[in-house]
Amino acid sequence: MKKDTILTGIRVNGELTLGNFLGALLPMVRLANKHSSDHNINIFVPDLHTIIASVDGDLQKNLVKTIKYYLAAGLELGENVHFYRQSYVPAHSELTWILDCFAHMGEMRRMIQYKEKSDGDKDTANVGVFNYPVLMAADILLYSAKFIPVGEDQFQHLELTRDLAMRFNRKFDTEIFTVPAPTHEQVKFMNLSDGLRIRDLVNPEKKMSKSSPNEKAKILLSDDPEVAAKKIMSATTDSLGRVQFDMFNQPGVSNLLQILALLRDEPLESVVNAYAGETQYGDLKAAVATEVKLFLSDFQARVAEISDAKVSTLLTTGETYANEVAGAKLLEVQKAVGLR
Ligand code: TYM
Repeated sequence: MKKDTILTGIRVNGELTLGNFLGALLPMVRLANKHSSDHNINIFVPDLHTIIASVDGDLQKNLVKTIKYYLAAGLELGENVHFYRQSYVPAHSELTWILDCFAHMGEMRRMIQYKEKSDGDKDTANVGVFNYPVLMAADILLYSAKFIPVGEDQFQHLELTRDLAMRFNRKFDTEIFTVPAPTHEQVKFMNLSDGLRIRDLVNPEKKMSKSSPNEKAKILLSDDPEVAAKKIMSATTDSLGRVQFDMFNQPGVSNLLQILALLRDEPLESVVNAYAGETQYGDLKAAVATEVKLFLSDFQARVAEISDAKVSTLLTTGETYANEVAGAKLLEVQKAVGLR
């Protein structure tokens, strides 16, 4: 029987944040360890997506480090676990072009990340920023992926991927593309009640982002654990004086509860219950700060133990697999549109 595929990717611009880790990397690792006996686990580095933002000399270094992060987070390797770089599988770029010819300007213009990233300079924003959701759709459709663990900010791109797949299948009366599961099923598969959006520690209305210029607003996976703990202790909360999970009215406190639950791998509910009735946030902050500090020291020590050679071997093997799977899917698509 054909195995379903679980797939994800994280861009490698600069250092990853705790948001990337808790929103995508850790869910992927947990899902992989649970399902790798009967699912393909595809973990790739979207290096082509990475160059839509600043192109610096650190791409290769960041790429290797990101793969080490999956291993340090406890990913168990096995014959169904595959690592690859997007640019080493040319089918991604080729399918993007073909899908471009099926994507509508209107739906692309509505992509929130495009609107945010090109805000204020629509005329000089690069075309890659506009087109990147189509490349993301190609990343997913080439491998017939059904589940794509990502943070909530990527859900709109998953919906676009579904729309493109269904449009293409309908047009050619085929089932060439596997349509990824709808968002609510993705969330359920990750064992969550909602998509994840870890918040900025200074302005919890916003998501925690690598590109934030304020160091106190984000925790980087390379942060000194003591410094990270201090950032948690000084995180913005509110003056309501009650600990409850309410992202709308109490995003700062809710964010801390969320971080604690994810790091401890405990249900959010039980973490919330543990603080029920407290009118001060000190204990909660101290607990999160300790948890983050322990996590970072342990994690960083594990990362340091993984060799570059190990990463290199994983990529070489994974890219042979990826080129085979993606090449075969691309050929089906090329035939459908009349290119072959
Ligand atoms: P990227 O590189 O911006 O982010 C990587 C992953 O981290 C998640 N994330 C967060 N989750 C929760 N809270 C946050 N504050 C937070 N910040 C980031 C993102 O949702 C994402 O899952 N286009 C994608 C990369 C990509 C991809 C793909 C993902 C390219 N092709 C195919 C899955 C499948 C991106 O730019 O994510």
